Amino acid sequence: MEVIVARSAGFCFGVKRAVEEVNRQIEEGQKPVYTYGPIIHNEHVVNSLAARGVQVIQSEEELDAIHEGTIIIRSHGVSRKVYERMQATGAHIVDATCPFVKKIHEIARKAGEEDAALLIAGDPDHPEVQGIMGWTDGEVHVVKSTEQLEKIEKSLGKTEILVAQTTFNKKRFEDIVEIFTKKKYSGFVVNTVCNATDERQTEACEIAQKVDAMVVIGGRHSSNTQKLYEICSGKCKNTYFIETLVDLDPRPFQSFSRVGITAGASTPNSIIEEVIDYVRNEL
Ligand code: F3S
Repeated sequence: MEVIVARSAGFCFGVKRAVEEVNRQIEEGQKPVYTYGPIIHNEHVVNSLAARGVQVIQSEEELDAIHEGTIIIRSHGVSRKVYERMQATGAHIVDATCPFVKKIHEIARKAGEEDAALLIAGDPDHPEVQGIMGWTDGEVHVVKSTEQLEKIEKSLGKTEILVAQTTFNKKRFEDIVEIFTKKKYSGFVVNTVCNATDERQTEACEIAQKVDAMVVIGGRHSSNTQKLYEICSGKCKNTYFIETLVDLDPRPFQSFSRVGITAGASTPNSIIEEVIDYVRNEL
């Protein structure tokens, strides 16, 4: 059986870095080890970290009860207020904010200092966006669509800076930029959309076109894995969505000679490896 594995399968750079940091802190850090929010949207990973003693802080208020140990900030980052509240606990803080998100915090901080208005293309309920909003002291707006941007009144004489949530849809951001340009804002755009998602989808699409069957690994509720499944199904009718190896039905594979494998952004390497190994050696 020939197996083609997507290079971009699984964790993106920022998530991989954050998960590795948690593992390092379990081994070397001051106990107890906390993560501010689940480190990743994957139950399997969160449960196995919990079994190794990692506790998840679910809200800002819970920080007040912490006075020791290590708090790890996940790749989404946090607002300045949350960061300062963490510092006040006296615990050791390990900042695993993705450097691409950090760059947006810096833009937000400067915008505040220079009294510029910050426009964020993104989802206002997403923790990454809430974090970014919290780094400017000035005017800030979050828009999900061109219609929302159209409705925002320009503040006279203010510089406007447009950025995006890192996982924002590229095409939608381009549309928003078009309106931003049309409205003649006296500011500038920084394209902060991260390419990791795009690259994963493009590669999955390319592989799905040249294989007999495609296996997509990821959580049932992971929207980026569902998207991968959709893309692959459009190119290869024998596309299978599995969470772990247990879900893989080996029967149809008897008639395939070339199989592609990809995985969503929150699928741990151990699960991917297990599937690759099985498809390569057992089918
Ligand atoms: Fe991942 Fe960082 Fe991009 S967390 S999706 S590499 S912005």
